Amino acid sequence: MTDEELKGTGVSGTPETENEAPMSETDASKTVQEGKDLTDEEIAEQNRKCLETGDFTEFDDAFEAHLEQKRRDEKAEADRALPPDPDSLLEVRHLKMYFPLKKSLGGKVLLSLKAVDDISFTLKAGETLGIVGESGCGKTTMGRAILKLYKPTDGQIFFEGKDIAQYKSAEMRPLRTKMQIIFQDPYSSLPPRSTVGGILSEPVLVHKIVEKDKVKDYVLEVMDQCGLRDYYYERYPHEFSGGQRQRICIARALSVNPRLVVCDEPVSALDVSIQAQIINLLKRLQEQRGLTYVFISHDLSVVKHISDRIGVMYLGSMVEFGDKKSIFSRPMHPYTQALFSAVPNPNPDVKMDRIVLKGDIPSPANPPKGCKFHTRCHKCMEICKHVAPVYREYEPGHFVACHLYPQEEQ
Ligand SMILES: Nc1ncnc2c1ncn2[C@@H]1O[C@H](COP(=O)(O)OP(=O)(O)OP(=O)(O)O)[C@@H](O)[C@H]1O
Ligand code: SF4
Ligand SMILES: [Mg+2]
Repeated sequence: MTDEELKGTGVSGTPETENEAPMSETDASKTVQEGKDLTDEEIAEQNRKCLETGDFTEFDDAFEAHLEQKRRDEKAEADRALPPDPDSLLEVRHLKMYFPLKKSLGGKVLLSLKAVDDISFTLKAGETLGIVGESGCGKTTMGRAILKLYKPTDGQIFFEGKDIAQYKSAEMRPLRTKMQIIFQDPYSSLPPRSTVGGILSEPVLVHKIVEKDKVKDYVLEVMDQCGLRDYYYERYPHEFSGGQRQRICIARALSVNPRLVVCDEPVSALDVSIQAQIINLLKRLQEQRGLTYVFISHDLSVVKHISDRIGVMYLGSMVEFGDKKSIFSRPMHPYTQALFSAVPNPNPDVKMDRIVLKGDIPSPANPPKGCKFHTRCHKCMEICKHVAPVYREYEPGHFVACHLYPQEEQ
């Protein structure tokens, strides 16, 4: 949105990108406040006064939302010119994945669901990034967008130093073996009519990982690494338990020698005892092969066990990100604090101060104004209802978006 478009109205009904919905009538009517037709400068001044006094009665939410969007777009544009981080295998910048919900007759997107909205992070080779957040916060969508299983709406995805966000499928083909995914449900993700040997040999043959006459030996070696006995080679998926099937899925992903593996809730469908075996297997394979994981889970104790860094997502945004130690020793965001407070402590002498999240998760198609978490936050202040907090680095590598912390650079 240009300044010119904003001028005099405070809002524009014209979507900024084809995925952006126009301002609703309710929002638009709020900008031209009763009996007043203010210029942008006047609205800005009025908002500034509200922020100063803490009285938000006259605050123009729609104007603030547009300014915030403009600031974010300018930041994304400025960051676009920066070279990729040389220390990272994966760098995600301002990633957006919007699903269109409503289109005009001409095919223009009128309303979209912002499943992933402006997410940025870096991940070094050999590290594990744990992604946590409630159901529907966009974990799977983010994982899939990183692997280009979805075409991202916007943003940059640097893999091995190259921005693959706009790569076409032909350009992605040579990278497919380097980026793999392991799904939650080991029951539905294996073809029922192929033997284990067939399932594991296929990608090895298709991607010519080894010479044809060496495929069987190679597959047996991968099976051995994944704790699968060689006589399983001739068996079918239905003959295996959930844990064994997940081992087959892991072996299939690893058979093509990936560097990055997105593990999307890989143990959620398994018994607790089997979960530990699979997590330990993933850790061992990571050490042996130098793998990099994006490990998605809603189980914090699992994430704590496997991750080097942790990202906490809420309604499509990253609200806190940092290394495991700093996040667990000092969770800063009230949402992270609430999630952590729900993890049972094995020590019965430690008193648990459980923070119960109030209300339901709002719809990502119509997220709350200001801080998206304000409708459920136990520390919500008036400003949180009107102004989105800045996502800022407070300790080296520890990022948070919350008004409880200084919003300006010190
Ligand atoms: N293909 C799609 N089309 C439209 N909306 C989608 C699509 N895929 C996901 N969504 C929506 O995007 C949001 C994020 O979904 P996603 O599956 O990424 O969440 P999640 O964090 O992985 O949840 P869970 O923990 O339940 O797996 C949800 O509101 C979901 O309904
Ligand atoms: S910005 Fe406000 S509502 Fe949002 S998490 Fe922080 S305190 Fe809670
Ligand atoms: Mg999911």
